[in-house]
Amino acid sequence: MKLLVTGGAGFIGSNFVHYILRERPDWHVTVFDLLTYAGNQKNLEGLDTRRFTFIKGDVCDEAAIDSAVANCDAAVHFAAETHVDNSVHNPRPFIDANILGTYQVLEAVRKYNKRLHHISTDEVYGDLEPQDPKFTEDSSYNPSSPYSATKAGSDHLVSAWSRSFGVQATVSNCSNNYGPYQHVEKFVPRNITNVLSGIKPKLYGEGQNIRDWIHAEDHSSGVLAILEKGKIGDTYLIGANGEKTNKDVIELILELMGKPKDSYEYVNDRPGHDLRYAIDSSKLRSELGWQPRFTGFREGLAATIDWYKQNEAWWTPQKEATEAKYKELGR
Ligand code: NAD
Ligand code: TYD
Repeated sequence: MKLLVTGGAGFIGSNFVHYILRERPDWHVTVFDLLTYAGNQKNLEGLDTRRFTFIKGDVCDEAAIDSAVANCDAAVHFAAETHVDNSVHNPRPFIDANILGTYQVLEAVRKYNKRLHHISTDEVYGDLEPQDPKFTEDSSYNPSSPYSATKAGSDHLVSAWSRSFGVQATVSNCSNNYGPYQHVEKFVPRNITNVLSGIKPKLYGEGQNIRDWIHAEDHSSGVLAILEKGKIGDTYLIGANGEKTNKDVIELILELMGKPKDSYEYVNDRPGHDLRYAIDSSKLRSELGWQPRFTGFREGLAATIDWYKQNEAWWTPQKEATEAKYKELGR
């Protein structure tokens, strides 16, 4: 198997590449990544170059993605602009990477008749009230932010290319990931590295928003199951029953780092802030036999904190600029 992974230098993409090279010893992986502010080749350091190739390129570049797809057996499409706050501040890069980029990937897999798995998010379904049932594959699309709207658009393109042109595609919509290699702009690493930098952790609004946390490695195992056993044309939700309020998460980070549980501060809320996401992953579990391995959030979070403690050289170059950007937003 020659697998193409777009966005493989980002957080989840790089975790996926490590996972695949470990779990499938006879596969070759090519990462295709633009190395935006969110991509980092250090995430892929030490991989066996006989089984791993890196191409720096833009998924919006028709010729570049065409030739990368021509040389693979299957593609997993992670590449995207991914941060909600950035999308509210400046939506344009999201239109380009998420909509136009997915269009170019689809045109290439259509031309060469290659299998595609498209990575998406539960945010396409909008948000839930606390008492609402969890999202399922039948939930209606109702995105709230420019990020989720462009991911929703990309999902619709995939289903249209599947139906109109017979592209061999599957889609997965996963909940919030945590784990190593996540950019310090995101909630969990921002606040772990705030503690490590002597900055008070920041909680948006009242901290009552709920996210459904899954370890990035469990996301990877879900994607591999779909790639190998998923039904062409189908969508699968990936989640590990990890619902927590942001307040609970920030307090757990502080507790695990040996700080008083209340040593954080409230900051301005995000405009249009989604209240709750929650995934029902019964289909993936019952049809493909998938199960998450990281079922204890406390243990998974403690290991993630250790990773950030041991990899200061990885995150310090991004930290100052990220916090300067947040300062402009008043967060
Ligand atoms: P990330 O921001 O850490 O990484 C994105 C990667 O894509 C980076 O390496 C970046 O350089 C690359 N990229 C961006 N634009 C590109 C372009 N035009 N051409 C080529 N490469 C480009 O993102 P992530 O958190 O790892 O998310 C990966 C995928 O998973 C995204 O599609 C995202 O929507 C989806 N997802 C993320 C989460 C989450 O919790 N982070 C949850 C569900 C789904
Ligand atoms: P984030 O990691 O941006 O993921 P998403 O918005 O895609 O779910 O944020 C997760 C949650 O944490 C979200 O409800 C916003 C909140 N948040 C904070 O409370 N403080 C922070 O410093 C950040 C970055 C996010």
